[in-house]
Amino acid sequence: MAEIKRVGVLGCGLMGSGIAQVAAAAGYETIVREVSDEVVQRGIGGIGKQLGKAVEKGKMAAEDRDAIVGRLKGTTNLEDLRDCDIIIEAVVEDLAVKNEMWKTLDAVCGPDTIFASNTSSLTIADMAAATRRPERMVGLHFFNPVPVMKLVEVVKTIATDPAVFDTAFAFAKSLGKEPIVCKDNSGFVVNLLLVPYMMDSIRALEQGVATIEDIDKGMQLGTGYPMGPFVLSDFVGLDTLDKIGDIMFKEYKEKRYASPPLLKRMVSLGYFGRKSGKGFYDYSGEKPVAMKLV
Ligand code: CAA
Ligand code: NAD
Repeated sequence: MAEIKRVGVLGCGLMGSGIAQVAAAAGYETIVREVSDEVVQRGIGGIGKQLGKAVEKGKMAAEDRDAIVGRLKGTTNLEDLRDCDIIIEAVVEDLAVKNEMWKTLDAVCGPDTIFASNTSSLTIADMAAATRRPERMVGLHFFNPVPVMKLVEVVKTIATDPAVFDTAFAFAKSLGKEPIVCKDNSGFVVNLLLVPYMMDSIRALEQGVATIEDIDKGMQLGTGYPMGPFVLSDFVGLDTLDKIGDIMFKEYKEKRYASPPLLKRMVSLGYFGRKSGKGFYDYSGEKPVAMKLV
């Protein structure tokens, strides 16, 4: 099996920063690419803060934190990822944006580099088709927050080389994750089932079934979910959830995947959830307060 030493990560937002953190923590030299120096600094600074919290809690030695940070590098230049053994993409959920990056990387990386996408809802084949290495493309779908959530969906397309899949699966394990094998369908396993639930929660709110707080409380206390659907949607990011809904609806033509009108209006107004300070809850005070939306 091919050995992975150097890991590239595209994007240092919510997911990219978590993926870079776990890769560096597992001992890999990790380089993260973002759109500007400012976003690179913010992303890597955020990882440093997360690790700092673990040191404060006595869960990590300061030297280990420093060693992890020492293995992390940031860049704005895609060509700096040319020597990576695997590149994991975690940029905005938009096929055109992702494929533009894959095309550039396909031209600069060696023939053995594995390309992996963390997409929530696009198919891996639709990205593989933009490259001259479809057999070296897989899905590595992590869950938010990446340092905490154990699951990684490892996705093979009809073109993926079985040896590449095995390397990606072993790589996910080496990060301390529990991988599962998935077919290359939009939403893989988890989002195929989770996205309709999140969209239905918004439809229930639109229909006046109950308040935001009571729907959240109902699902948390009634089913043992760690977060209710609105806390979870704000956590995932409403801009991302809306894009996922559009992509899955286009694929399956089933209403249960479609973004409800309320979600669309919230995204138009910049209510992206926790990341923008406002979503189904307002995060500007000491405690989140449910918004008046219906
Ligand atoms: N980043 C890193 N670490 C975090 C974190 C974050 N954002 N949030 C919490 N943690 C860590 C804490 O530091 C804490 O670590 P220690 O035990 O080492 O101290 C641990 O997680 C537990 O945190 P808390 O006690 O503060 O909170 P909690 O027990 O309520 O757990 C949670 C927080 C793990 C996020 C939990 O609420 C949970 O599991 N929520 C559901 C998350 C979920 O469903 N994620 C999947 C989203 S869908 C997706 O990702 C796919 C997609 O394509 C959209
Ligand atoms: P995010 O908004 O936190 O980060 C997206 C990053 O993409 C940003 O850092 C941004 O600088 C970068 N970006 C935006 N436009 C770009 C462009 N034109 N070119 C290059 N980079 C650009 O989003 P996220 O939540 O980290 O999601 C990233 C990917 O991970 C998406 O494909 C999403 O579907 C997937 N995902 C998200 C979650 C989640 O819970 N949020 C979970 C699993 C998978």
